[in-house]
Amino acid sequence: MIQYFDPKKDKTRDLGTPEKISEVQVSIEVDGVKVTVAEGTSVMRAAALVDINIPKLCASDNLEPFGSCRLCAVSIEGMRGMPASCTTPVREGMKVETQNNDLAKLRRNIMELYISDHPLDCLTCPANGDCELQDMAGTVGLREVRYGFEGENHLDAPTDDSNPYFSFDASKCIVCSRCVRACEEVQGTFALTVDGRGFDSKISVGPAEKFIDSDCVSCGACVQACPTSTLMEKSVIEQGQPDHSIVTTCAYCGVGCSFRADMKGDKVLRMVPDKNGQANQGHSCVKGRFAFGYATHKDRITSPMIRDSIDQPWQKVSWEEALAFAANRLKSIQLHHGRDSVGAITSSRCTNEETYLVQKLVRAAFGNNNVDTCARVCHSPTGYGLKATLNESAGTQTFESVMAADVILVIGANPTDAHPVFGSLLKKRLRQGAKLIVVDPRSIDLVDGPHVKAQHHLKLRPGTNVALLNALAHVIVSEGLEDKDFIAARCDDKAFQQWHSHISDQRHAPENTAEITGVDAQELRLAARLYATSGNGAIYYGLGVTEHSQGSSSVMAIANLAMVTGNLGRDGVGVNPLRGQNNVQGACDMGSFPHELPGYRHVSDNETRSLFEQEWQVTLDNEPGLRIPNMFESAIHGNFKGLYCQGEDIAQSDPNTQHVQKALTSMECIIVQDIFLNETAKYAHVFLPGSSFMEKNGTFTNAERRISRVRKLMPALAGKEDWQVTIELAKALGYEMNYEHPSEIMDEIARLTPSFHGVSYDRLDELGSIQWPCNEKTPLGTPIMHTEDFVGKAGTFAITEYIATPEKVNKRFPLLLTTGRILSQYNVGAQTRRTENQVWHGEDKFEIHPTDAQDRGINDGDWVGIASRAGTTALRAKISERMQPGVVYTTFHHPMSGANVVTTDNSDWATNCPEYKVTAVEATKVSEPSQWQADYQHFSKRQQHLLEQATITKP
Ligand code: SF4
Ligand code: SF4
Ligand code: SF4
Ligand code: FES
Repeated sequence: MIQYFDPKKDKTRDLGTPEKISEVQVSIEVDGVKVTVAEGTSVMRAAALVDINIPKLCASDNLEPFGSCRLCAVSIEGMRGMPASCTTPVREGMKVETQNNDLAKLRRNIMELYISDHPLDCLTCPANGDCELQDMAGTVGLREVRYGFEGENHLDAPTDDSNPYFSFDASKCIVCSRCVRACEEVQGTFALTVDGRGFDSKISVGPAEKFIDSDCVSCGACVQACPTSTLMEKSVIEQGQPDHSIVTTCAYCGVGCSFRADMKGDKVLRMVPDKNGQANQGHSCVKGRFAFGYATHKDRITSPMIRDSIDQPWQKVSWEEALAFAANRLKSIQLHHGRDSVGAITSSRCTNEETYLVQKLVRAAFGNNNVDTCARVCHSPTGYGLKATLNESAGTQTFESVMAADVILVIGANPTDAHPVFGSLLKKRLRQGAKLIVVDPRSIDLVDGPHVKAQHHLKLRPGTNVALLNALAHVIVSEGLEDKDFIAARCDDKAFQQWHSHISDQRHAPENTAEITGVDAQELRLAARLYATSGNGAIYYGLGVTEHSQGSSSVMAIANLAMVTGNLGRDGVGVNPLRGQNNVQGACDMGSFPHELPGYRHVSDNETRSLFEQEWQVTLDNEPGLRIPNMFESAIHGNFKGLYCQGEDIAQSDPNTQHVQKALTSMECIIVQDIFLNETAKYAHVFLPGSSFMEKNGTFTNAERRISRVRKLMPALAGKEDWQVTIELAKALGYEMNYEHPSEIMDEIARLTPSFHGVSYDRLDELGSIQWPCNEKTPLGTPIMHTEDFVGKAGTFAITEYIATPEKVNKRFPLLLTTGRILSQYNVGAQTRRTENQVWHGEDKFEIHPTDAQDRGINDGDWVGIASRAGTTALRAKISERMQPGVVYTTFHHPMSGANVVTTDNSDWATNCPEYKVTAVEATKVSEPSQWQADYQHFSKRQQHLLEQATITKP
């Protein structure tokens, strides 16, 4: 095949129209150059592949061709007129001419018409030098415009500045509709339309007047698509064009989008999703693209601080002094209370290298295994459940794999809010015709959105996932829909037979589980048949599965479903946990659990331990350490006294806040390493300033097991990167760690971890990113897991008996509260609350069904007291048909909301993952915050005051 350019290796060049896949290859000649492409490819793309760039304005290779600007006209032998090359597919033997006098004249005329209705302010325009219209005017050789501005024009069209991040200057719009198509095809929101016809046509934001009031979710795809400065980032308008760019990885969710950070000196001007990004392919959401200002927010703390007790003002000190203070306290605690009286929590927001070092510090310098991570409270059941069934604690696919799915089962996940870029890809596949089953107590956006509708929404009662999943499996088995060949070839027969006889029992029949789940038996049967018989079936799940007392059972039940239908080991299928934080997968991989060394190897395994002992030159403890809830319990009982907490906010994110507060106030030394004085830091004795993802080198691993580079954009504000701080804390404790650069830490990880043997920074730079396992057997990584076996073993069906949660509704607490996230905020909100994203979600609301609200005399916007067996808080009501009667919902992004004041201590039987998703509550109209909220406000103000005092305290 003759092509001058490999679009698979570098997608940054815009080839005009999307790639077409076909076994039929077609050869044409463009300006005498032969090119062979897949049938269906446009003439424009074929030409671009041999470096012949036809002028264009309305075409872009991430959008279907539209053919409105006509700038791309070409001459084709045997064809009349001058067809648009973007909408003309190649035909065998076609001879195309892209340059001649007639074409040049036509293009100049078209461009002249555009420019005659466009402000001539290029020199002062913020897009000057980065404007396709300007470039094309030059390309077609336009030197003068014959028409003046006297006639009718759009030069006075208004500017819409309502979006906090970008502006829409209608006077510069050429109505190419790239923005409209980006919103539809890339983002799937359909917020924009072209109103009117001909000269009167203009871009409008649906029925709304302004972007801020429209359906727009501020993903920025339209801004990226716009070939003029009509849609433009305000940061660029205000500060000018960037002078250099660095590719890095988003630090928000587990999608792990790749971005080109456009910089001016040390300042990030804008984040542009990287077309080469293998997880996001040039798309992003509002958080990654726009909400990065927190990194330089005035609340950043850049001096190390210490204090003897939490009622004292902070004292700003040197790094040396802070680290010595921390180390002495930890040593003294261990001396008086024993080796196991201290521990650490690693961060799923930090890099792999940083979490690796924290667990190393615990095991090698603390001398115990008391290390845990926030995955404890989100995806620990995924680790347990997938390991027990599929023999590997990770998702099985790439995100791209969803494009080959025929039926998609989304359970306990809300991708359009929590994993938006994957959500957009999923919607794209649904628009192409894939079927959708949603299992969720709420009507999430996917259930019925623009051009997307679930075939089945199984609106179950919170806490009944296992009963529902078992019923789905029962239908499949009892109706003979299982994939017998797959089971025989790939699964352990004994385990299958046991599971088969268990699941065949009539107690799992949908007719018998309907009363438990609240889901109609016939609807469930139809959903089971759809999943089992539609071709490729893919399951995506989130915290609505894991954060339950039976979280691990649900994960195993999901794996059972995939195995029984043979939906594993190829494109378009699989079991896909949608990970919450950017590096949850990585934190788990790096040995952040108290029972596992990196690579999920148990601490009791002598061979593994001796490998690490040799490398680290210490003797390692062979007993698992404390999990986070055990640390709290032990602290309250006076046995656990010291905690090093890197980049996590357990005081806000963990359940039963009062219990957590009690544990924190029971400790003698809490060391918090963070970029802000978060809720946990208010209980701390040592504050070590953290570095944001912009200030360091490292890697993150996303939900697809994809390891991507995080690259330093600017110097660390506090002078040290997080990995350097951990090294120095270890040194202060008497344990030397010697690394000059995070790449050396990765080299050590690769040496010691079989699934990482082939990973290095050089390899990452070469390949862009790598999905582990990456080793001698799979040097390019592993996009799809379990293609031949389940990591050397047979798949194991697991018995998953439904056991109702102890959290029951009764007369006193008749409603079930479940929690989740919203698009514009992220987790505890420490980052997003310090950005303009606040305009969309400045407070957490309490969603309640109209019937439940009416029964209680609650109106929209009323303050509602929410009481559970654990505590009471108050939030403003949002009356919503999304809810089912008896079920209420809130988000947890604001500390004052106290969502976790009401969540209980119930947790997953296998992993202690808290049962955030099921809390029995009562809601009553109130006029003031709860006692906890009043106390919180008081405590918080006091801590803020103590922080402000630190600014006047001399070291
Ligand atoms: S706003 Fe930009 S992308 Fe949209 S129609 Fe106008 S010029 Fe084209
Ligand atoms: S920002 Fe995204 S959602 Fe909003 S109009 Fe543009 S493409 Fe659509
Ligand atoms: S989808 Fe996730 S990783 Fe991608 S930009 Fe949004 S927050 Fe960042
Ligand atoms: S680029 Fe082909 S018609 Fe606009």
